[in-house]
Parts: sequence; C-alpha cells; structure tokens
Amino acid sequence: MGLFSDISIKRKLTLIITATSGAALLLAGATFLVYVLIISPRAVAQNLASLALVIFGAVLLSLLVAYAISRGLQRIVSRPILDLAQVAGTVSREQNYSIRARSESRDEIGLLVDGFNQMLGQIQKRDIELQEAQAELQKRIAQLQREVAERRRTEETLANKNKELERSNAELEQFVNVASHDLQEPLRMITGYTQLLARRYQGKLDQNADEYISFAVDGARRMQELINDLLIYSRVGTRGKAFTPADCELILRNTLASLEVAVEESKAMISHDPLPTIICDEAQVGQLFQNLLSNAIKYRDGRVPEVHVSSKREGGSWVFSIKDNGIGIEPQYAERIFVVFQRLHTRDKYPGTGIGLAVCKKIVERHGGSIWVESNLGQGATFYFTIPAMEKE
Ligand SMILES: Nc1ncnc2c1ncn2[C@@H]1O[C@H](COP(=O)(O)OP(=O)(O)OP(=O)(O)O)[C@@H](O)[C@H]1O
Ligand SMILES: [Mg+2]
Repeated sequence: MGLFSDISIKRKLTLIITATSGAALLLAGATFLVYVLIISPRAVAQNLASLALVIFGAVLLSLLVAYAISRGLQRIVSRPILDLAQVAGTVSREQNYSIRARSESRDEIGLLVDGFNQMLGQIQKRDIELQEAQAELQKRIAQLQREVAERRRTEETLANKNKELERSNAELEQFVNVASHDLQEPLRMITGYTQLLARRYQGKLDQNADEYISFAVDGARRMQELINDLLIYSRVGTRGKAFTPADCELILRNTLASLEVAVEESKAMISHDPLPTIICDEAQVGQLFQNLLSNAIKYRDGRVPEVHVSSKREGGSWVFSIKDNGIGIEPQYAERIFVVFQRLHTRDKYPGTGIGLAVCKKIVERHGGSIWVESNLGQGATFYFTIPAMEKE
C-alpha cells in the first residue's frame, strides 16, 4: 500500500490499464514465442490451425492474467473508499461523531478521508454544543415550570385570602350596621331623658348640675351624629343602587342646589368644565360631590371660597378634580384624612365628625376607582377621583 499511497487515482487507473494490457501483450507474445521457437517450430510451419489455437490459447491466458492483475490493482483504489463508506455507515447508525476514518494514502481518497474526518470533528463539536444547549434549555424549562407552579400557588393563596377578606368585610359591615341600628334605640332614650332633665331641672339645681346636664345632652347628641354617620358609611356597601348612565353636570347641579345655604353664606364661587356622562350609582356620586364640595367651602381661610370642578379622560377612566383655595392640608396627612373619624381640626374650629371623606373613598372604590388629594398647607387643596369610563366612549 505504502508504494502507491502518494500516487493519484488518475495515475493509478492509468497504471492499472497499462499494467494489465502490457502484461497481457507480454504474456501472449512470450507464450507464442516459447511455443513457436522452442516447443514445436515444425508444427507451426505445417499446421496453421494449430498455430491459431496456440495464439488463441496465449491470448486467453494473458487475458486471465491481466484480469487477475487488474482486480488486485483495483482493490488498492476501492478499499479506502469502502472503508470510508463503512465508517460513514457506523457514524450514522450509532450517531457517534468521535469515530474517524483511517487515512493511509495521500491521493484524492486520502483528501476525501481528511475532509470527512474534519467534517466529523465539526459535527462532533456542534453536537457537544447542542447537547449542552439542550441541557441548559431543560434546566430553564424545569425552572420555569417551578416558577409557574409557585405563581399558581401564590395566586390560589391570594384568591383565598381575597375571599376571606371579602367575607370578613361583609361581616364587619353587617356588624356595624346592626350595632349602629341597635344602639339607636337606647341612645334615643338617653337623649330623650337628658333633654327632659335639662328642661325640668335647668336652674333648679346647683350650677354644677346644670353644666353636667348640658354635657350629657351634648354627648348624647354627638353620639347620635356618630351613629348616623356610621350607618351612612356602612350602607354605601349594603344599600348601593344598580349602576346606570348619569350626566355628571346634572348631578352637580342637584348637589349645588342642596348646598345652596352654605354657598350663599360663604359667597362661594363654584365653576365647572363640561362634565361627562358616566355609569354609576347616581345617588352615591351625588353624595361624593356633596361631601367634597362641602369640605371645599367649609375649610376656607377667610377668603371667598373659589372652587372649580373639572374632568379629563385618562385611558379607560375619567379623572375628576375639585380644586379649592382654602386652608390646604399638610402632605403627611394626605392618606389619614380618608380614614373613618380622622379629622385635622377641633370641632369648635370646623364642625364635622370626620366621616365625609371615608364615605367618598368607599363610594369611589365601589365604582372601581380611586381617590386622593394633592395639597400643601395654606395653598388650597385639589381632590381627585377616578371612575371607569363607559365602554363605547
Ligand atoms: N378641602 C379641604 N381642605 C382642607 N382640609 C380638608 C379638606 N377636606 C377635608 N379636609 C380635612 O380632612 C378631614 C376629614 O374630612 P372629612 O370630610 O372626612 O370630615 P369632616 O369634614 O371633618 O366631617 P364630616 O364627616 O362632616 O365631613 C377634615 O377634618 C379636614 O381636616
Ligand atoms: Mg367633610
């Protein structure tokens, strides 16, 4: 093999043809000569037929020898190709790219084997990279599955907590409703009797007694107010009406009519931009405007109150604003004022029980919106609330 390894296939084929045909001719000539000159020179001369037979035999023998030589030489060419084919078959069967074909010659087949081996090397490299990427992908998928399962568990827990919260909220609302309702009866008795005491015995007992009686009357009256406010608050959720389309300009007009006394007393100037039609509980939105406008008039600083109502569309909601030029609120109390009974002033300075904004918050939240204030002390306040817009708008 080593002898032919550097020779190209083309040369090898030329060599095979030359060698076999040369061998055939040589053998035929030699046989003929041996027969004619040595074995039977006379018979050749006498018998042409036997000469022809000898020639035929010599040619046949030489062809057989040439055929044998050609087979031997062809094997030199075909063996590496068959080897290569076998390696290719094994690689594709076992998917094992680490196998390499043997390369013993440096002819075209040797180059082919080298190229084939190089290709296998690259495939093996890609295969390793692919396997690593697949392993990484599997890891990511497993991680993702874990995260999805975790999220599902969290969502379930959240949904359960929400249900629990809704249930306890409803229970609390029910409790406040029943308690306020039940408290009204004994309270009415207390109020009635303390007022009776005041009427009958005012000025007839000593001065302390008069003072105590007036404290009792005042306390009973305040308690009545608080209970009424609590009832209003709890009924936002329990006695709300169905939502229908309502024109906010009309709602505002009705609200201003019911605030007529306060407006006239304070000479308040109330203006508004065009307001939209929204889907809402009209009575509750009226209550919302009333609480916010009455605050805007009430919390003034000696100047004539100027109040402006406007609205603008933001995404799927209407954002309403009620801006005043009153005393303003320190930003640190911006959230506290929406909690039940939270007030920033004494009742002597500004009357009220501190339920108005808590009711506003509950109404807005029942409509799927939110409420907040932007203000600074002494610089007026702007209350904002959102209400989801009608779908077709
Ligand atoms: N427009 C405003 N300007 C300044 N402060 C305000 C304004 N509106 C509300 N506040 C502050 O927020 C507090 C809570 O207001 P809220 O309307 O809930 O109660 P209230 O007005 O005191 O009583 P009521 O239950 O009668 O409304 C008020 O006591 C006041 O200190
Ligand atoms: Mg108020």
